Amino acid sequence: MIDNYGREIRYLRLSVTERCNLRCRYCMPEDGVFKKRHEDMLSEDEMIMVVEAASRLGINKLRITGGEPLIKKNIVSICSRASAVKGIDEVCVTTNGTLLPEMASELREAGVNRVNISLDTLSREKYAYMSRRGELDTALRGIEAAIYAGFDKVKINTVLIGGFNDDEISSLAELTVKYPVDLRFIELMPMYDSGDFDEKSYVSSELVLKTLPDLIHQKAADGVAKLYKIPGALGSIGIISPVSNHFCASCDRIRVTADGKVKPCLHSDIEYSLKGYNTDEMEQILKSAILSKPLAHEPLSLNHRSGSGRNMNEIGG
Ligand code: 5AD
Ligand code: SF4
Repeated sequence: MIDNYGREIRYLRLSVTERCNLRCRYCMPEDGVFKKRHEDMLSEDEMIMVVEAASRLGINKLRITGGEPLIKKNIVSICSRASAVKGIDEVCVTTNGTLLPEMASELREAGVNRVNISLDTLSREKYAYMSRRGELDTALRGIEAAIYAGFDKVKINTVLIGGFNDDEISSLAELTVKYPVDLRFIELMPMYDSGDFDEKSYVSSELVLKTLPDLIHQKAADGVAKLYKIPGALGSIGIISPVSNHFCASCDRIRVTADGKVKPCLHSDIEYSLKGYNTDEMEQILKSAILSKPLAHEPLSLNHRSGSGRNMNEIGG
């Protein structure tokens, strides 16, 4: 479906849980803060209804996010039912990777086409610090399990954080030489609760190009990412600049939160509830949400944080 600004919306990001086995400092508070009641969250059947309603509006790409989607007991069933919905051509899962060693093959068999794995550092100490409770080796095993399981694409998402991993750009980029993976550097976004970060933490993705002058620019772009490659590498390097160069003009997505709110824009607090409606009604609500997508969000900065009113785990990273 085309929105009021001529953008074709064909991508749904569906969050299946706000919970996570990690507590990344840019995503959620230490104590988790799970205030919501089970009855207020979308059930598996409702999630599938949302996907069906979205596909009727021309959405053909689905991303399952969280929180951490793989901690959800029925995640394999959600993925397999969602991938069977008519009109859905591609199902991707965004995960921290720590449960992939056990689950990668099952997800592949359930029809998941691609996985994006979050990895911000190759240092055990730094990984434990940023995720507050994760282990680097488990995430790395998750990446290997995903490659082994034969997804169409395995991507690594790295949030670029000044004073944390800006000295690891080269070593992280080398992952695309060692493994058949694409790596994307994403600028840190100042979300609702970003207390752990100061001005120095917010670095422009330009730094990647300065650090890796030999990168070859690739003509094709991948959604919102500008693509590059290390000569001879197996995978590409993507640069995503939501802060220094927002991509609202080519926004092609809507988001549905685990508590059943459709968000026309990541950085706006406008939400419409889908909970308790049938598929036809959901279709109409999704349609109104698409038609209320703003032209652009306001510029983000430390003093002008995202207007979403939620942390990332409550939206869908
Ligand atoms: N800024 C940028 N990316 C974020 N993510 C979560 N919080 C933020 C933030 N504040 C993204 C990361 C992570 C995914 C789950 O969500 O890419 O890999
Ligand atoms: Fe969990 Fe991902 Fe948020 Fe980290 S960024 S706390 S892994 S949902």
